[in-house]
Amino acid sequence: MSVHNEDQRRVTTHRLLEMKKRGEKISMLTAYDFTMGTIVDKAGVDIILVGDSASNVMCGNLTTLPITLDQMIFLAKSVVRGVTRALVVIDMPFGSYQGNSKEALASAIRIMKETHGDCLKVEGGEEILESVKRILTAGIPIMGHLGLMPQSINKYGSYTVRAQENAEAEKLIRDAHLLEEAGCFALVLEKIPAKLAQRVAKELTIPVIGIGAGGGVDGQVLVLHDMIGLTQDFSPRFLRRYVNLQSIMNEAIEHYVSDVKSGDFPNEQEQY
Ligand code: KIV
Repeated sequence: MSVHNEDQRRVTTHRLLEMKKRGEKISMLTAYDFTMGTIVDKAGVDIILVGDSASNVMCGNLTTLPITLDQMIFLAKSVVRGVTRALVVIDMPFGSYQGNSKEALASAIRIMKETHGDCLKVEGGEEILESVKRILTAGIPIMGHLGLMPQSINKYGSYTVRAQENAEAEKLIRDAHLLEEAGCFALVLEKIPAKLAQRVAKELTIPVIGIGAGGGVDGQVLVLHDMIGLTQDFSPRFLRRYVNLQSIMNEAIEHYVSDVKSGDFPNEQEQY
């Protein structure tokens, strides 16, 4: 399939707003290293998220909570080096912004100074609004994240669909408006009913990007390793696997092992 994005200009928060206005859907994927960042960028994805899902995917942790600010900075720096077109958004890790707004600003400034990324993403609404506002006053663009917020997994107790009850749905709508009014440039909605996500996308002027939030929003995000089948043990209903790279890699590696054992590798042309 050919690259669909002819426009090689750098994606900016302003351009994302224009895309929403003209009804052009926004594509977003995660990346955690230079090579993947380069591949995803070249394929024409609009937003690359250096997600704290790296805690699970790259480090093998059960949740996103253990990944540190230093580790996120290390990964984000590598991704940024490989990207020329996409907007690079970096997740602020658990513990780096919830304490108070002064600490949040210090963490945000460190990430921006050391990684050269474009923007940050934080999970939460009213509870973290003061931190969001303080970071925004420093000129750092912020993407919000509501619905299933993996950094709060210990509060929920499970990764089931959020905001199915009225009270939680109403709070989510209020929080979405608060984040937009504060100045966030976009919002991620994770694992909530499609109708609710569609309503939020209609009410907000900023782009709403969904993961497990249906097709009525302004764009979609998936975890790269899930959609290319490098990970196999995570299969929620919303995940479309476009390729099974794990089995392709397994086959290649088994072939290599057998060639080494049999002495078939290296051959005459593969030596000096
Ligand atoms: O960390 C992450 O990968 C995310 C996406 C699921 C939106 O926050």
